[in-house]
Amino acid sequence: MRTHTISVLAGDGIGLEVMPVAMQVLDAAAEPHGVGFQWREHPWGSDYYLAHGRMMPLDAIDQLAQTDAVFLGAVGSPEVSDTETLWGMLIPIRREFDQYVNLRPIRSFSGIASSLAGSPEIDMVIVRENVEGEYSAVGGRSYRGTPYEAAYQQALFSRFGIERIARFAAEVAASRSGRLVSATKSNGIIHTMPFWDEVVAEVVAEFDTVVLESVLIDALAARMVRRPRSLDVIVASNLFGDILSDLAAGAVGSIGIAPSANLDPERRHPSMFEPVHGSAPDIAGQGIANPIGQIWAGAMMLDHLGHPDIARRLEAAFTAVIESGLVTPDLGGTATTAEVGAAVIERLGSV
Ligand code: NAI
Ligand code: MG
Repeated sequence: MRTHTISVLAGDGIGLEVMPVAMQVLDAAAEPHGVGFQWREHPWGSDYYLAHGRMMPLDAIDQLAQTDAVFLGAVGSPEVSDTETLWGMLIPIRREFDQYVNLRPIRSFSGIASSLAGSPEIDMVIVRENVEGEYSAVGGRSYRGTPYEAAYQQALFSRFGIERIARFAAEVAASRSGRLVSATKSNGIIHTMPFWDEVVAEVVAEFDTVVLESVLIDALAARMVRRPRSLDVIVASNLFGDILSDLAAGAVGSIGIAPSANLDPERRHPSMFEPVHGSAPDIAGQGIANPIGQIWAGAMMLDHLGHPDIARRLEAAFTAVIESGLVTPDLGGTATTAEVGAAVIERLGSV
C-alpha cells in the first residue's frame, strides 16, 4: 500500500459538508489501486478564529509543510470579515508555499443545461497567476473619517512572476490545442498590463506549437459568453483569472462543480487542492451542497501525487453520475451531498 499524508482543512460552511464526502470518495477510488491516504484533519477556519483570534495556529505552515498535499474545503463566514479569513488562511498558504499556479479546468457535461443560450460545449483551462498581481498587501488608507479619506492598493507584477506563469500556461496549451489566450487590459492599466503583454509574448515565442492571442479582459468576458468554444487555455493575472474562472463555471451551470489546484510546480512545498466555490452561507447546513467541485479537486490532487490512472477513473465516475441526472439542486436536481458521493462511489465499481 502506498500512502499519502494529506492535510485536510474543511474550513467553514459547506466546506464542512463536501469535504467528508470527497474524502470517502477518494478513499474508495484509491484503495483498489493499492493507494491510501492518511488524512490529517485540522479544525482551522472561522470558528477557530472566533475562539483563538486567528484562523490557524502559529505553526500551521510548518504542520502543513510536513504533508504531501493540502486538501481545502472553503473558508468564509458572515461572522468574520473576509479580509481576516482570506488573508489569515488561504492567501498565506498559497504564498508561503509559493503555489504560483492556480489551475482551473472547467467543462460542460451532457444533460446539464448551460446557463448560455444553445448550451455550447465548454472545455477550457484557466491558468491564473496566484501569488502576486492585484492581490497585494501593499497599500493603505489615509485621512480616515475626513472628506479626504482615500485608499491605495499597489499591484505588483514581476518579470520572474509573469515568466513562470506564462511558461506553465504555454506548456498546458502545448499539451492541448496549442491555442493560448492571454487576458490583458493594456489600454486602461498602462504600466503593469503592457509589461504583462511583453513578457508573456516573449515566453510564448519559445513554444513553436503555441499560438498566442492577447485579448482585453472586457472583450474576453463577452467572448466567453458568446463564443466559449473559441477558448481553450487562458493565462491571466490573479484578479482576472479569479473572475474569469467563476464566469466560466457559471456558464457551465454551477460554480459547485468547478475545481482548482494551487500548484508549486517545482514541488518544493505541498500544493493545495480546493473547489473554486466559497463557504456558501446561503445553503450551508442543509446537506444540499454540490460535492463535485471538491471531488474533482481531489482528482487533480491524485494527478499531482502521481496517480493519473486513478484520477481518470474518478473523473469518469463523477461524469457518469452527473450525466445520469443525479445532481444537487444547483444543477436542477434533488439529490443531497451524501447521495451524490454515494453514487460516485458506486460508479467507481463499474468504470
Ligand atoms: P460562494 O461560492 O460561497 O457562493 C456563491 C453562490 O454559489 C451561492 O449562491 C452558493 O449557494 C452557490 N454555491 C457555491 N458553491 C456551491 C456548491 N458546492 N453547491 C451548490 N451551490 C453552491 O461565494 P460567496 O457567496 O461570494 O462567498 C461566501 C463566502 O465564501 C465569503 O465569506 C467568501 O469570502 C468566501 N469565499 C471563499 C473562497 C475559498 O475558500 N476559496 C472562495 C470564494 C469565496
Ligand atoms: Mg473566486
